[in-house]
Amino acid sequence: MSDAVDFFISKFRKNIQKQEKWGRCYRPRPYRNAVVRFRNCSIDDFEERRDILINEAGLNAFLFRADKIPGCDLLSDSGTTTMTMEQWASLFMGDEAYGSNEGYFELKRQVEETFGPGWGDVDTSVGGASDSLFIFHQGRAAENAFFSVLSRKLREEGSSYPPEISNKLGPELKNRIKSKITTLSERFGSLREPICIIPSNSFFDTTQGNIEDKRMIPVNLPCREHLDNREDFPFRGNMDIEELEKLLSCERERIPLVYLTITNNTGGGQPVSLENIKKIRELTRKFAVPFFFDACRFAENAWFIQRGEKEYSGKSIKWIVHEMFRYVDGFHISLKKDGLVNMGGALVIRKEGDFKRRFPDFSCDLIDHQIMTEGHPTYGGLSGRDLMAVSRGLETITRQDYLDARIGQVEKFGEKLVEGGIPIIRPTGGHAVYIDMDRFFDGEKNKADFMGISFTALLLIGGHRVCELGTYAFGSYNGKREIPPDPRINYVRAAVPRLAYEDQDLFSVVEAIKVLADHREMIPGVNVEYGREMSLRHFKSRFSFLPLAKGAKSRKNKVLR
Ligand SMILES: Cc1ncc(COP(=O)(O)O)c(C=O)c1O
Repeated sequence: MSDAVDFFISKFRKNIQKQEKWGRCYRPRPYRNAVVRFRNCSIDDFEERRDILINEAGLNAFLFRADKIPGCDLLSDSGTTTMTMEQWASLFMGDEAYGSNEGYFELKRQVEETFGPGWGDVDTSVGGASDSLFIFHQGRAAENAFFSVLSRKLREEGSSYPPEISNKLGPELKNRIKSKITTLSERFGSLREPICIIPSNSFFDTTQGNIEDKRMIPVNLPCREHLDNREDFPFRGNMDIEELEKLLSCERERIPLVYLTITNNTGGGQPVSLENIKKIRELTRKFAVPFFFDACRFAENAWFIQRGEKEYSGKSIKWIVHEMFRYVDGFHISLKKDGLVNMGGALVIRKEGDFKRRFPDFSCDLIDHQIMTEGHPTYGGLSGRDLMAVSRGLETITRQDYLDARIGQVEKFGEKLVEGGIPIIRPTGGHAVYIDMDRFFDGEKNKADFMGISFTALLLIGGHRVCELGTYAFGSYNGKREIPPDPRINYVRAAVPRLAYEDQDLFSVVEAIKVLADHREMIPGVNVEYGREMSLRHFKSRFSFLPLAKGAKSRKNKVLR
């Protein structure tokens, strides 16, 4: 009897482990639905969606009414999470005191628990409030506060850097920086001196926007493996260490800090290895430059480290997160991602870190900024109950079973697209699948026609929403010509909200994308009707479809390269 039971236990176990790839392993989700939301529309309402898209939204996915999307809304994984029952229940426990509410202390405790010792520290020499944790209503508000205060501090320092960018950088990197300076000078009239440079593996658009707005130069240094499209390389989010070293040794005075986005959203949601993090720390120590994370998807990044770096495969996610955060002087985070909430952001500065040493009264200025723009530092733009939900989110996010299911789902989605011949960035990232528009259209289309915008618009008529993150979102227009993103990226991103969709929903998106791929000669380019020259233009622009080229007809292509 017990032999038979043991026999079946071993067979059941083998059954769920038989697929080596996470993406192929069908096991039940580690949660089940507790609340569902019925749709307000049907997948069959194609004409209604066409009319809304053309007449109301001007082909801009951001301007399309969400309640008219019957399929998957993959515009963003940000703030779109389904909260857990523990989070909903915790909202009742929030207290709405104006100063020092319960949620603030609970959040500080959880920040320390999730990110490691020291991150919830209080320095009573600074205004009585926490010197480490600054709460904001979302990530970009934290970025804005940070770069506003930083640029002021740098100007007050009055450093006099050489006016010219060093020749020792080599022509390629030097020209990239100079052309960025020219673009920004054209946009703002002139740049205030001194010109500061902030390097990163790749900045997200709002981070880049905030840095540029403060007249500083963001420089992306994605690793070679990413630029070479190395599909076998598990850490394509890494920073190019050689380029960073070159930049630090030639232009150290201009660099107030080095950034790392984990995972690298702009570069395809790709993770960064702990080895890369440690090397950046070594270099930044050597050149005495502080080191920060844009930590939006820290837990997903930790999961990839556990899977991809042998020496950490036996470590828990919690351990890996603590280890990752040991090497930085601070971080900002949009809690709308790995905070598992619908709204929230934070900036966290290490009390004993290099940044704090370089700018000892930074926190004081930051608190002023926070009070003027968000509210008292103990709630900073959120309500007391929100802080409780953030705490529970930061607790859940490091669960192994959650991350296995979450990243496994994104991987399955990516694998299905690959099976359908759709060119995506591989390996798939943690939160999204990125479809490569240059390869999707295989050079057949005029690259100036913003085919990612057309793709996105037509897929909306098909019932699903994704987001162009390519030549339109990251390029710019100087009044005479288009300046493509540097390095060139031309993706459409399908970001998967946390705990919201089942595999079947995502597979229906694959089916709709295959329709577009099969008939890609019939996809027209777009004309920009409004907003081409604006900053952050993809949020605001309106478009119309261009007429199809004469003689265009469907050739029903099955497989793309
Ligand atoms: C890497 C990264 N940084 C910053 C942000 C900005 O965060 P928020 O949307 O909360 O303002 C995002 C948002 O998507 C992001 O992905």
